[in-house]
Amino acid sequence: MKKTLPDRLPTHVAIIMDGNGRWAKQQKLKRVEGHRVGIDSVRNITEACCDFGIPYLTLYAFSKENWSRPKEEVRTLMFLLGLYLENELPFMMKNGIRFNIVGERKDFSKALQAQFDHVINETAGNKNVLLTIGLSYSGRKEIVRAARLIAEDVKSGRIKRIDERTFKKYLYAPDIPDPDLLIRTSGEMRVSNFLLWQIAYTEIYVTDILWPDFRREAFLDALKDFAKRERRFGNIKEF
Ligand code: FPP
Repeated sequence: MKKTLPDRLPTHVAIIMDGNGRWAKQQKLKRVEGHRVGIDSVRNITEACCDFGIPYLTLYAFSKENWSRPKEEVRTLMFLLGLYLENELPFMMKNGIRFNIVGERKDFSKALQAQFDHVINETAGNKNVLLTIGLSYSGRKEIVRAARLIAEDVKSGRIKRIDERTFKKYLYAPDIPDPDLLIRTSGEMRVSNFLLWQIAYTEIYVTDILWPDFRREAFLDALKDFAKRERRFGNIKEF
């Protein structure tokens, strides 16, 4: 049976892509194969956002904590990231995808930083979907960084008032609306330091499906579940 699109869609979907290692183990493959097939899921879900008209997609690809994984795995992930940036540009141009990153770009090699800039610049005029990838990202570090930058601007007299609107301006990507829906694959009930400020009122959906198996059909199930939620943003329910 073909699944139809729900009436009410999120504007911004954020995803914690988890379970690549478990997927590879299940298939009796090396962990790297899980990450490799995980990239196919990235493309599949990005394309689905274009088709469904979801303008913002943010994916958690590499946390600040992930640097402490075994050296060989980190090396492989960096290699795959480079390959992704090299191979996916035509796909992004064809589908009107604008690329951006959030996280500590200075933690990456100069070569990768140049690739980030290239893809960000080339896709800057695209208008369908803003694809933001979390790279060397930590929600707590993002908040502390914002506090530090605000302190500097208060000290130099550039700002006087600190409220939520001011604070948001100091986050990595101040112009993106907060996520409406946060999806986590592979069953873990955690937010793992992802977008801590931004998910204050976000609906959370956890699925047991492992990231390399998470494709359009599973995404539609998440969107249908979201469409049924009643969002209250802290208000009381009216009878
Ligand atoms: C979690 O699986 C996944 C990651 C740490 C990396 C996610 C990376 C990709 C999907 C590929 C690279 C993406 C881009 C955009 C280049 P895990 O290894 O923690 O799995 P496990 O919990 O089953 O061990």
